[in-house]
Amino acid sequence: MSVANPHALSSQGFSLAPSPYSPRLLELKFDKAVVDAFLAAIAPWPVQALEYKSMLRFRVAKILDDLCANQLQPLLVSTLVDRQSGALLVTPAGLDKVEQAEDMVRFTTAVAHLFGRSNFDAMSGQYYARFVVQNTDNSDSYLRKPHRVMELHNDGTFVEQDTDYVLMLKIDEQNMEGGNSLLLHLDDWEELALFARHPLAHQPMRFAAPPSKNTTQDVFHPIFDVDRDGQPVMAYIDQFVQPKDFSEGNWLTDLSESLEGSGAKLSVPVPVGSFLLLNNHFWLHGRDRFTAHEGLRRELMRQRGYFTHAKTLRVPNQ
Ligand SMILES: [Fe+2]
Repeated sequence: MSVANPHALSSQGFSLAPSPYSPRLLELKFDKAVVDAFLAAIAPWPVQALEYKSMLRFRVAKILDDLCANQLQPLLVSTLVDRQSGALLVTPAGLDKVEQAEDMVRFTTAVAHLFGRSNFDAMSGQYYARFVVQNTDNSDSYLRKPHRVMELHNDGTFVEQDTDYVLMLKIDEQNMEGGNSLLLHLDDWEELALFARHPLAHQPMRFAAPPSKNTTQDVFHPIFDVDRDGQPVMAYIDQFVQPKDFSEGNWLTDLSESLEGSGAKLSVPVPVGSFLLLNNHFWLHGRDRFTAHEGLRRELMRQRGYFTHAKTLRVPNQ
């Protein structure tokens, strides 16, 4: 499939700048002309086509990069493994209404498949998962519990595949007060060295998820590892780690309290249609509490996957 001449569009079709929340978190904004041209070019492929044919996820990625004068892919590849940054707040202009949810999913799919491949999500049975948070909830984890903080964690801790990136899209938000995304870069955490050097840091621990996650096998790995440059990375989540004894349980609780008490946490509002893209190895994420409201509704989409170009994790056993 051919794409309209990218040079017909203004410059490269997007802008990049540090966010007001932290110089590590960059804001990537796509021009409306690029978003419109992209949606026109991928008109033959609704989300269902991308679900059924994995290869098309990479084709829509190529179409988006071509529209951006092939400047987008190298930028995404390098930013996401850059230890100084590794985080983007992405806004495609004009995609900001819940009625455009499918277009939002298609756009995020294109972005993700320029630097990686999104893993199978056992919760949805697809390469992405959409889920709704409402005022009342009877689920079995804090994912959909609105009125409390979801503590800082990494994703993918209880699956076997590498989870190099996390993409979190805001599809809808109504009657919402609070509920910002909470982010912490490991190098900004005051007590990183204290915990990363502890004898339990590199001790394999058991991770097991509740039934809604549709994963039945326990996974064993340490909370800390090191990346290709020997810098600490984490694979941690308070809800699903299963300490085997008194010392592990108390060390994990100390770690959780240290993370939650960090003064370096960022609180980031994500507008409808925007999405966060994080390196999952040196960024932790969570969600602030929000205020109860009868008509509260929030819909999110996530994709988690592995990097196909530059990597953060070292090759195992080397
Ligand atoms: Fe998460």
